[in-house]
Amino acid sequence: MTTPAVDQLRAAIERELPGVRADLERLVRIPGIAFDDFDAAPLERSAHAVADLIRDLGLDVRISRIGEGAPAVIGRRPAPPGAPTVLLYAHHDVQPTGDPSLWASDPFEPVERDGRLYGRGSADDKAGIMAHIAALRAFGCGTADDRLPVGIVLFIEGEEEFGSPTLSELLAENRDDLASDVIVIADSGNWDIGVPALTTSLRGIVNCFVTVQVLESAAHSGMFGGAVPDALTALCRLLATLHDADGEVAVEGLVRGEAAPLDYPVERFRSEAGLLDGVELIGTGRIVDRIWTKPSISVLGIDAPPTSEAPNALVAGARAKISMRIAPGDDPASAYQMLVTHLEKHVPWGAQITVRLEANGNPCVIDATGRYFDAARAAFKTAWDGTDPVEIGVGGSIPFIATFQSLFPQASILVTGVEDPHTKAHGANESLHLGEFARVCLAEALLLRNIATGEPA
Ligand code: BES
Ligand code: MN
Repeated sequence: MTTPAVDQLRAAIERELPGVRADLERLVRIPGIAFDDFDAAPLERSAHAVADLIRDLGLDVRISRIGEGAPAVIGRRPAPPGAPTVLLYAHHDVQPTGDPSLWASDPFEPVERDGRLYGRGSADDKAGIMAHIAALRAFGCGTADDRLPVGIVLFIEGEEEFGSPTLSELLAENRDDLASDVIVIADSGNWDIGVPALTTSLRGIVNCFVTVQVLESAAHSGMFGGAVPDALTALCRLLATLHDADGEVAVEGLVRGEAAPLDYPVERFRSEAGLLDGVELIGTGRIVDRIWTKPSISVLGIDAPPTSEAPNALVAGARAKISMRIAPGDDPASAYQMLVTHLEKHVPWGAQITVRLEANGNPCVIDATGRYFDAARAAFKTAWDGTDPVEIGVGGSIPFIATFQSLFPQASILVTGVEDPHTKAHGANESLHLGEFARVCLAEALLLRNIATGEPA
């Protein structure tokens, strides 16, 4: 749609983009990682850098934390009389880089190649932060010509990638300050380059450690092998029971659902995943069911002697980290119980087993009806030059959406984001599609306008 108001926002976003890009690059240079074993100083710097950007928008800003928890940034400005308040969420912490040799360029030195900006957090989720800021700048926030028509709460979390251990408490403590009519969570993505999306379901997560012990200590593999099992073989046999021959999850009692009728062509899916030729897909049913509305189980790592140091000895104990994604409608506590029951029942050869929960998070489903969802659909369609947004699920997790839902049951929750199928969030060579990013920024500005006017454009 083209109206003077839309054209004005379009021009404003275009004008702001170079500055937004420069600020995004500054944020990417700060390696703020909330995991326990990482230096906490950069995370503090990152929170301050975000706070400075928000303060420049004329918002009332503070850094908030629970105890030693990660620093979150909260910025607020009240709504004009009668206007709604919109909470804008993103997170400023990033995933660790993994093996740096797998990156084509320094993960913390953003560089552009072929229209994409490479760097850890260039998309997930520092571009989410900058999309919010771009939208506010488009309304002249913090200048003499400030035209923002809604109230704003900017909430930028600092430990999302670490499972948000203190977020529930943080939300509860700041409940009054965070109260809003609409919540925009910019931490998901779009369906394809050129096709916008609203995310309406996410899986939950249950991560745990399973340890198998068979000997007091390692024993000579020649003297005892043949009659005494080793822990690594026992663990591998146990892990092998988690799927049936088709690769379908074999743990009983987990919720399974059906996803929206959206076609995800197998060839596209294989190529986006980077699956090697000849490697089969696992599970059954449509791709979207398998990744959005059915459970999955993956083994993320194993503690056992590294091959280069392994002596000729039977391994006494071994541990695996298991990650289970659970379907919308399932419950992390009951799903964990089902997994523990399965593991205890299937452990071979009487090996001793202990299971320890690492972290869990709720799945969620969003009913995308009502005026604010209509406002979003119209904004997306305009920003993508007439392409309607599709409703998608995602297989990943944003556990606190369920917390927002129960804390603010009246609020509409819009899950948006900057990611596209080639982003490689959490992987090596994460990147942001700069053309799509411009559309995300425009869409958010239009969304704020639509929310205020109630006349979607
Ligand atoms: N941005 C992701 C969530 C996501 C994943 C959205 C895939 C769209 C597609 C988020 O930062 C994330 O990675 N969450 C973690 C949650 C965990 C730490 C509790 C995840 O899914 O692993
Ligand atoms: Mn994220």
